[in-house]
Amino acid sequence: MKAALSSVPEKQQQDSEFLRDVLEGLGGKRKTLPCKYLYDEVGSRLFEDICEVSDYYLTRTEASIFATNLKDIADKIGPEALLIEPGAGNCEKIEALLAQLESPKGYYPIDISPEILLNAEHRIKANQPEMQVWSAVGDFTQPDVWDQLTQLPSRKRVVFFPGSTIGNFEPDKAEQLLELFAANLGVGDGLLIGTDLVKDSVRLERAYHDSEHVTERFNKNLLNRINTELEADFDLSLFAHRAFYHQLRKRVEMHLVSLKDHSVSVAGTRVEFSEGETIHTENSHKYSISDFNQLLARGGFRPICHWKDAAASYAIHYAQAI
Ligand code: AVI
Repeated sequence: MKAALSSVPEKQQQDSEFLRDVLEGLGGKRKTLPCKYLYDEVGSRLFEDICEVSDYYLTRTEASIFATNLKDIADKIGPEALLIEPGAGNCEKIEALLAQLESPKGYYPIDISPEILLNAEHRIKANQPEMQVWSAVGDFTQPDVWDQLTQLPSRKRVVFFPGSTIGNFEPDKAEQLLELFAANLGVGDGLLIGTDLVKDSVRLERAYHDSEHVTERFNKNLLNRINTELEADFDLSLFAHRAFYHQLRKRVEMHLVSLKDHSVSVAGTRVEFSEGETIHTENSHKYSISDFNQLLARGGFRPICHWKDAAASYAIHYAQAI
């Protein structure tokens, strides 16, 4: 979910995919945009700011669960493990865990940004010189970036997928992603994964409609990105940020609401908006422990245990591939 360094033809291909996805998403009866496009350079920075906002409890709660249970988590993983991190970004979350593990065999971060991976690799090597790091550049939802893994040594492989990123996948896609993880693990290998838990809607909605308006800027930045990259003329003042918890679907939905009837040009195509119509930009699914255990089972894992904070806001699950 980070901006990548890319060659000119690759960049052109990405631009045309972006245009195709935007026109398709805005051309439907219900307007949508894929949430992956929220993360250009500005969006990735805004997301880092969201993680610091007091209303957005997810990041710091997960960090506190890790800090409190690090030894227990490392014991569950066991000795000589190879840790694999899809969407690793700056690899900061895993460092303390790598340091706690008994004789780890190495670390395999996957990210679409070679620049971010290289920086992270240098930092890990500086802090833990004996740690073997094999970086894989690419989209972790695609099987090819997992290929190198088969040649790497380990007694046990463990996929590390924190941040509640699984919540941004629709349940059927989340299941497919877990299947992809399981396909790259042996029986008994591990998955350590963070999920935000179902809770009262007021707290959830505040997390995605924060009082500092950072999430609003993050959401609206998508229109800015379309304006600059696809020659569009969205007027950001004609859209409002909306986030609400959908009780039935157990997800926070993020939308941009048109404040009046108007039209926008996107690369020469006119898109009509009526007052109150929305562009649906993201879903963030919340799971109870038992719902997530069922998802794990459908994805090819046996739930082993989980750790929660005292308020039961968030959980880190450990599961084994079957
Ligand atoms: C990246 N992901 C887990 C965040 C979430 O909570 O769903 C993205 C986010 N969107 C708005 N705020 C945070």
